[in-house]
Amino acid sequence: MVKYISDENIVLIGFMATGKTTIGKELSNTLDRKLIDTDKRIEEKAGMTIGEIFEKHGEKHFRALENQVIKEVSGLEKLIISCGGGVALDPENIKNLGQKGKIVLLEADPKTIRNRIKNNKNRPLLNEKNSIENIKKIMDQRKDLYLQAADIIIDTRTKSILAIRDEILEEL
Ligand code: S3P
Repeated sequence: MVKYISDENIVLIGFMATGKTTIGKELSNTLDRKLIDTDKRIEEKAGMTIGEIFEKHGEKHFRALENQVIKEVSGLEKLIISCGGGVALDPENIKNLGQKGKIVLLEADPKTIRNRIKNNKNRPLLNEKNSIENIKKIMDQRKDLYLQAADIIIDTRTKSILAIRDEILEEL
């Protein structure tokens, strides 16, 4: 097993349901590093769920909270940081995360994503519109931003969690 000895953070980005949280937990256990899930941090700070933030205050407010949380965690070291799927929409987030971190993009295809989110109501951007067409549409809008942000790109389709973890550690 390849170890990761740098103090740099490992930052996981990618579309909703590409496995950022799951892979983040695996890396955190394997490397004995703290995992920070930015969505969880935002929920703790706001005292409400992501769904409630979107509903009560709108996406713009959520993005401002996200920007703030990213700023806070980007200054720390030796972390695994699992980000929300929209983190790459704000170039400032990527600049901050890249200062002390390697950015790993997890990719999956719309069909796989659709299957993963089918019965899950925690994603305000897909709750009412979880068709493959809508997933494709949002993915296309974001594609270039994800690619530009990434130091490493990992295709997660048909791979086990452990295989994905190992591939990340080998590539880093
Ligand atoms: C979002 C993704 C979500 C969450 C919010 C917005 C997005 O995180 O941050 O619902 O814009 O892609 P996950 O990628 O963990 O679902």
